[in-house]
Order: sequence, then C-alpha cells, then structure tokens
Amino acid sequence: MDKPIYVTQPSMPPLEEFTEYLKQIWDSKWLTNDGQFHQELEQALCDYLGVKYISVFSNGTLALITALQTLRITGEVITTPYSFVASTHALWWNGIKPVFVDIEPDFMNLNPDKIEAAITQQSTAILPVHVYGNPCKMDKIQKIADTYGLKVIYDACHAFGVKVNGTSVFNFGDLSVLSFHATKVYTTFEGGAIVCHDEKTKNRIDFLKNFGFADEVTVVATGINAKMNEVQAAFGLLQLKYVDSLIEKRKKIAQSYRQQLNNIKGIRVLQDVENVRHNYPYFPILIDQKVFGKNRDEVFEHLKTQNIFTRRYFYPLISEFPAYKGIPSASRDNLPVATMIAQQVICLPIYPDLDLGDVIKIPSLLLQFQRKE
Ligand SMILES: Cc1ncc(COP(=O)(O)O)c(C=O)c1O
Repeated sequence: MDKPIYVTQPSMPPLEEFTEYLKQIWDSKWLTNDGQFHQELEQALCDYLGVKYISVFSNGTLALITALQTLRITGEVITTPYSFVASTHALWWNGIKPVFVDIEPDFMNLNPDKIEAAITQQSTAILPVHVYGNPCKMDKIQKIADTYGLKVIYDACHAFGVKVNGTSVFNFGDLSVLSFHATKVYTTFEGGAIVCHDEKTKNRIDFLKNFGFADEVTVVATGINAKMNEVQAAFGLLQLKYVDSLIEKRKKIAQSYRQQLNNIKGIRVLQDVENVRHNYPYFPILIDQKVFGKNRDEVFEHLKTQNIFTRRYFYPLISEFPAYKGIPSASRDNLPVATMIAQQVICLPIYPDLDLGDVIKIPSLLLQFQRKE
C-alpha cells in the first residue's frame, strides 16, 4: 500500500457544521455541567437508540466505574478475560475481585454455561461484554442472575446501534455502559454513557458523575468528576446525523471481506446473526495455523511490511496482565477457549472511509502470503 492503513480511523463530519455548534458554545460561555448540548444529546440518544434513560460521560472507563458504584457492587464479579482491559480495571478501581469465566468460540462472548460454577457467596454481579458488538446470550445470563440474585452490567462499549429483534441491546441487564472513544462506531472524541431503565437510577448516576452533588449544598455520595463537556456533546449531536450511513459503509466493507475471505482455507470470519442489526466496529478473523500454514503473528508482521497495521484484539487476555494473573480464575486451564482465540485473532482495518479497492487487496495479500514458502 502507498499510504499506511490503520485498523481504524474516525469519520469526521463537515467542519463547517461543527463550527456552527462551536459558535453557540462561544456565545453562551457554558462549557460543561449539564449544558444545553449535554441535555439535547441525552434526549437525542434516547430517541435514536430506543432507550428510556441515558447519562453521558467523559469516557467509557469512568462510566464503567460509576455503573458499579451506582448499584453498590462489591465482593466478586464474574467477567470475561476477552475484552479491553478497562472492563476489568473498572472492577479493580472499585476494590472488587474479578472472577474470570471462559468465552464461547462462536462470538467470543462470556459463556453462560460456565457462569454458575464460578458463583460464590461473595458474587454480586456479572459483567459480560458484547465483544465486537455481537450480543451476548442475554436471556441465559439474565436467568442465572435472577436465580442467584446477581446484577448484570453489560460492557456494551462496542455495541452502539446494535439491536436484537428490533430492540436496543442496551435494554437488557440492569445497566449498559457505552464508549464514544475516537475508535468507536459513534464518537465524541472521548466519551461514554450509562443506559438505565428508571428515573431513580438515572438520578443516582447523574449525582455520581458530578462529585455526588444532588443540589448546590447536598452531596449524597462520594462521586467523581466524569461529566461530558459541551464540545463533546455538540460533536455527539452532529455525529448522530451521520451514524446510520457510517454503519452502512462499514457493513459493505464487512461483506466484501467476507466474500473474499470465505475462500481462504484456515481463516474463520464471523457471520451476521439473523434478527440482529450489527454495527461492524471491528473485523476479526481467526487464523488456524495448522490449516493456513502461517501463524497469526507472522500474518500480523507480514501485513505491517505491506503498510497495513492490524490489531490483535484481544491479545493478551486481561487475565494475563500482572495485576490479574495471580487470581486463580486467571489460569489458562480455566480459560482454554479464550486462550486459544487470543492466539488466533487479528482485526483487519475497517472504517467508513476505507477504500473498497484496499478492502479487496488485503485478502489477496493474505492469500499471497499463505502461498509464500
Ligand atoms: C470493551 C471496552 N470496554 C471499555 C472501554 C473503555 O472505554 P473508554 O476508552 O471510552 O474509556 C473500551 C474502549 O476503549 C472497550 O472497548
């Protein structure tokens, strides 16, 4: 490739449109603290997503930490090792012990059939992740949570716009946490949110993200500063106008990749699920070294030499990092599927402005590399 192609790139709306919002911020001089754009964005997101209550945040990690505080989660939480580190770091920041449970090989989400065996007297919640925006087996997870009296907080940072049978994936569980980081399908530069289902919970989240202030003189909780500012909120409003077309472009890229990669032996791609509206945030492929003839890291390095910068999401597993590897549930014996997939996975470039010609070239480079002695 003449110019480097990275795994992702944000799609920027027309600058002139953004400056219109900026002018209003300049005029009002209201920069943060529940400003006009903050309020408008929360309403617009509820309408777009089809959810009742949302509270926007300065980033997804603080939203995750606050979600756990909102429900007063303590003790142990069952979670997946196959995610971005922030999923488990949020537990650590709350003094909660993560208990890792293996994933399923189909979509790399937490395996519901393995959850019960990990529940102890200290368990208070389950924190699954909709990895790559593919919905977890939410009915099964909820059934277990109801049986054992556990809360469910979804790390839904990859799942913006995803629907199951026409309903937002954020309507499941007690809370869903979103990220609007620059690498996400929908972005506010940095940003995030919590979706909840009732007004009382929304109020508590709003207090917690603003130091615990309920009013000028009343601090009801040891809150934090996790507020979204007006510039982020304005960008969010503008992005919302374009997000459907951005998802459509991603879909075309995913379809093109699939068409070509289906013919390469030793490469597995994930397919769409019926009744799910997908959002295509990543394009993971799994490389089976025995069949493909080269291992994942060789492919990763080879593509780099061709100016293509993929990412190995999610390698290493969270359970492999020093902070967590001493925990008994972090052992590889407990996580055989996650361990195997972390060795095989590579995410190919996918973003709305990616040239479809380049999308065709990448699988052919893989094929050439496979044939190379
Ligand atoms: C699964 C997952 N959880 C949490 C986060 C943290 O979100 P943020 O970067 O907005 O803090 C991210 C992304 O960055 C993520 O991909």
